[in-house]
Amino acid sequence: MSGSSIIGWGSSLPDKIVTNFDLEKVLDTNNDWIVERTGIRERHIGGTTESLATQAATEAVKQAGIGLDEYGGLILATTTPDKTTPGTSAAVHKNIGISGFAFDINAACAGFIYSFVVGHQLVKALNKPIVVVGSDTLSTITDMTDRTTAILLADGAGALIIAPNDNNDCLLSFDLQVDGNLEDILYCNLGGYLKMNGKEVFKKAIRAAEKSALKVTEQAGFTMADISLLVPHQANQRIMDSLCERLSIPREKCASVIESTGNTSSASIPLALVDSIKKGSLQSGDLILMTGFGAGMTWGSALIKWS
Ligand code: UT7
Repeated sequence: MSGSSIIGWGSSLPDKIVTNFDLEKVLDTNNDWIVERTGIRERHIGGTTESLATQAATEAVKQAGIGLDEYGGLILATTTPDKTTPGTSAAVHKNIGISGFAFDINAACAGFIYSFVVGHQLVKALNKPIVVVGSDTLSTITDMTDRTTAILLADGAGALIIAPNDNNDCLLSFDLQVDGNLEDILYCNLGGYLKMNGKEVFKKAIRAAEKSALKVTEQAGFTMADISLLVPHQANQRIMDSLCERLSIPREKCASVIESTGNTSSASIPLALVDSIKKGSLQSGDLILMTGFGAGMTWGSALIKWS
């Protein structure tokens, strides 16, 4: 086996929906402001990082149809583990009943990109399929009296199965970055609530994502005109629109679920990607450009060929 491909996918959102109108009742905010400034109309709240990840991973594993004892392991990207230790990945691994390792990765909202890249290297090294999950319950670290974060943050999970095959690699190029000097614009102390300088994150995120997306595309010998689907971190529709404009990617080629999910951190990229897959938007050979950014400040991109 010399190549790799994505052979399973799944997603999970809590049943409880909180609309902007619900938030109007408890916060000094309103539906029009939230829609105009963020693109969000509603978000899902509830569950645990383990339960959401288990649901998404179970769906993905079922679809992949590979024997549970053939797996190399599972990587869970999360900013909101249910316990300090063990990693939430251990419980998800037990729940879905696969073989191999399990560990958590905390790279904030860029976590799924980090996990996908690391997972892909392990698929190659072990010659076994790997489950890669992004799951977060940001509601557990949200100060519901802070209107600048409470309107954005939400819960969810998405999962992919990467497996070895006889063809080419699905991961064509990647870029993973961090700048710890930017910690103070977005952070959450142990036991505390997420604090964010929204304006600074907004500006830095767009620049970082643009540069990173261009880098991986060029690295693989393509131009933006070759990209079939851009899957950015779902932080704010205005960030996604600006990214499309700067990259000259038409907005219809940008996967967006933020209107109904809000910002789900590590889960946002797989939720948007799985949504596009389920809608049948992808064809064999399509190039998918994932790009994310978050606390750290972390950022990164991965260029994938769909097969
Ligand atoms: O996943 C991690 C990465 N996170 C992000 O990428 C988030 C990036 N940042 C953002 O998405 C945006 O900066 C926010 C959505 C957080 C804020 O939007 P903004 O357009 O940057 O608003 P602003 O902070 O410039 O505030 C504009 C006005 C202010 O009022 P004044 O000073 O002009 O009177 C705010 O007080 O809007 C006010 N405001 C609100 N009004 C109603 C701030 N939050 C709200 C609110 N409802 N929820």
